[in-house]
Amino acid sequence: MMKIAVLGATGQTGQHLVQQALQQGHCVTAVVRNPAKLIVQHDNLKVVEANIFSKDSLKNHFEGHDAVMSCLGFSTSFFSAVTGYTQSMEATVEAMREAKVNRLITMTSWYTEPNSGVESPYFIRFLLLPMIRSVLTNMFQMEQFLQKANDIDWTVVRPPGLRNQPASALEFLTHEGYFVPSSSGAPMSIAVARGDVARFMLSLLNTDAWTKKGVAMSTN
Ligand SMILES: NC(=O)c1ccc[n+]([C@@H]2O[C@H](COP(=O)([O-])OP(=O)(O)OC[C@H]3O[C@@H](n4cnc5c(N)ncnc54)[C@H](OP(=O)(O)O)[C@@H]3O)[C@@H](O)[C@H]2O)c1
Repeated sequence: MMKIAVLGATGQTGQHLVQQALQQGHCVTAVVRNPAKLIVQHDNLKVVEANIFSKDSLKNHFEGHDAVMSCLGFSTSFFSAVTGYTQSMEATVEAMREAKVNRLITMTSWYTEPNSGVESPYFIRFLLLPMIRSVLTNMFQMEQFLQKANDIDWTVVRPPGLRNQPASALEFLTHEGYFVPSSSGAPMSIAVARGDVARFMLSLLNTDAWTKKGVAMSTN
């Protein structure tokens, strides 16, 4: 049993993560901006309101926890840069340092690296990636920030497109990089269930395999 603080707990992936963590016997502190939005109730679930951009707001809620997990997401914008990923992560890492919490598991996406999409299918390369570029750029900046956080045992989980489905029993496919390649070396074109992303993130609590690494994941 571990004590886990979850950011983005009210989100579509975050809610799967909270549910599964509780089912696995963990104690969860859901750190949210709107407590009314979290419908799960459980004896081992504590819901607290905090500002994800404020180290001081976060640190009290992190104290005594074994890990921080984040499923935060911010909207894409054509007109201005997205900054939510870096700003919340800077506050999170500072709060973790002060609260002496060392393990961080967060999610970004396939293709955060600017040139990593060149082998993706045309639809993704010329339509989807340009549409979400501002999000991918800030996710990449957040990944670069974590690369320098040597005192934190972070893992960045990169899923492909997300489907709103619960966890399956499918095997995970993983790759240290910006997508999971098929046998040809090009990206596999597949979407994963949000429940499986949550299941993968929780599986990392029991292993050091992806510590201080970014791991692209998918399911078989
Ligand atoms: N859609 C895809 O196909 C895809 C593919 C790969 C990766 N991703 C990425 O995966 C991540 C999770 O995706 P998702 O669909 O599960 O996300 P989501 O449903 O949009 O949830 C986002 C979460 O972030 C929280 N949040 C956003 N701004 C906040 C703020 N200012 N203060 C506090 N909380 C804030 C939301 O809180 P509220 O509930 O209060 O709004 C919510 O809990 C995102 O980063 C997304 O970009 C998505």
